[in-house]
Amino acid sequence: MSAAPIDLRSDTVTRPTPAMREAMAEAPVGDDQYGEDPTSNALQQQVAKLLGKEAALWLPSGTMANQVALRVLTRPGDESHAVWHETGAGAANAGVQFTEVGRRGVFTAAEMVAACKPRGHVIYPPTTLVEIENTHNRAGGVVVPQDEVLRICAAARERSLACFLDGARLWNAAMASKRTPAELAAPFDLVAVALSKGLGAPGGSLLAGSRELIERATRYRRMFGGAMRQVGIFAAAGVYAIEHHMARLAEDHANARLIAERLAASKRIAIDLATAQSNILVFTLKDGAPDAATVVNKARERGVLLFAFGPRTLRAVTHLDVTREQCQRAADVLVELAEGGER
Ligand SMILES: Cc1ncc(COP(=O)(O)O)c(C=O)c1O
Repeated sequence: MSAAPIDLRSDTVTRPTPAMREAMAEAPVGDDQYGEDPTSNALQQQVAKLLGKEAALWLPSGTMANQVALRVLTRPGDESHAVWHETGAGAANAGVQFTEVGRRGVFTAAEMVAACKPRGHVIYPPTTLVEIENTHNRAGGVVVPQDEVLRICAAARERSLACFLDGARLWNAAMASKRTPAELAAPFDLVAVALSKGLGAPGGSLLAGSRELIERATRYRRMFGGAMRQVGIFAAAGVYAIEHHMARLAEDHANARLIAERLAASKRIAIDLATAQSNILVFTLKDGAPDAATVVNKARERGVLLFAFGPRTLRAVTHLDVTREQCQRAADVLVELAEGGER
């Protein structure tokens, strides 16, 4: 067993590589709130282009990108569909309530339409926004089928609903579906993408959309306390990551697949191989296996870190800082633990 743990808790645990740190140290910087940080300006232009949008805005985190987007696209009292991981921020910051639609991260246009509250009656909250997460984290990194995305956004437009894409892992979705990020982003008014997940930067997300929406987002970023100064240090990590870590996401996907296939072969683990599409795996422990907390604790003792999503549900995420051999080993440990082997 190697001394450093095989950390599959999340793709956010990666540490900046020496080359990324060098790019950060050498980045030209300026006051970003005066629009004078050349590196963040360059990153914003680069990401806007990658996503096929007029403009983009750097924000410190994905949570803030999502919150700013909600604030831009809704009014307090409206209803939208980001529920689990943002500590209720949508209700607190944008004053919206949510309706969850579909199963395992995927829903149809018909389900979205059915979930919209009837219009024109004073008792119902106006449904004003549809949000899609791609890839979908809690659903096990599944890619939302783009044909359905197009149908959902078309149905939303017919009802004058705005469309928001939480694309924290849009780069993974693009790699897995062999489509460009711009193609996946096209139907949406605003798109959030993260630098700190599969791309391995230490922080930062961007929101992209029309110039007008990004101007409004810039105001809310300031209001939410997310406007920073010499952002170029972070932005340089993003520029470096886009150039050097994008293509290798395919390795993370192949490593996740390797783990998934090993787990699927165990009689004590249930995993739907059809969901093993990107770098996230969500799987359950069958009857006869220990519960999720026990497996997490015993795996930690064996140098493998992962996350319990529920009493019998676990999540494992591959990334830049785990090798194929480590993934192989982690899968062996998980199968042994699920099958009761203490070694
Ligand atoms: C799909 C998705 N969106 C948004 C976020 C929030 O990002 P951050 O942790 O940078 O605030 C996460 C975090 O993992 C995520 O998985």
